[in-house]
Amino acid sequence: MDFSEKKVMVAYFSTKGVTKDIAEKVAAATKGKLFEIQAKEPYTDDDINWRDPDSRCNKEHNDPSIRPELLKKAHCPGQYEVFFIGYPNWYGVYPAIVQSFIDSLKLAGKTVVFFMTSGASKGGKAIDYAKGITKDADKITWLGDERLNDFTQEQVNDWVAKL
Ligand SMILES: Cc1cc2nc3c(=O)[nH]c(=O)nc-3n(C[C@H](O)[C@H](O)[C@H](O)COP(=O)(O)O)c2cc1C
Repeated sequence: MDFSEKKVMVAYFSTKGVTKDIAEKVAAATKGKLFEIQAKEPYTDDDINWRDPDSRCNKEHNDPSIRPELLKKAHCPGQYEVFFIGYPNWYGVYPAIVQSFIDSLKLAGKTVVFFMTSGASKGGKAIDYAKGITKDADKITWLGDERLNDFTQEQVNDWVAKL
């Protein structure tokens, strides 16, 4: 899709910079406004230790109703028509903080394009997951959810063009 005539936001959550690197390339490809999704209480290394059953990431995974508080909301999100949302795959989908961001938007009539990075897992589950828990889901155009680890700028440009 040609996004050059659209107002695009590229929002991402990233703990170690892997998704951030791709998000910057997606922003370059779409001329979108980059926005980092951050939790008010930042995720420490202990928080994201999935081997510890009591860690924050496991608590959030085990209680899907948890919505961590955002550090800040996007500035004037209503002006954007397309929201690219990049996330690190946690247990097959996106972390709860990403849903906190999604919940902060009014998305009816808008387009959401997921992209993700992971250790190995493929994407593809986020759209169904989001549709189940997002307000006005049936009024939103949902696209994407590919794994873009290690994509070059050229590869990201191609991925964007083929959406
Ligand atoms: C809590 C947690 C759960 C994860 N679950 C998965 C998983 O199910 N499958 C997978 O391939 N990678 C998984 N990963 C690895 C991350 O998706 C991967 O390292 C990602 O690229 C990190 O991106 P970031 O630096 O932008 O946070 C998990 C990482 C964390 C911290």
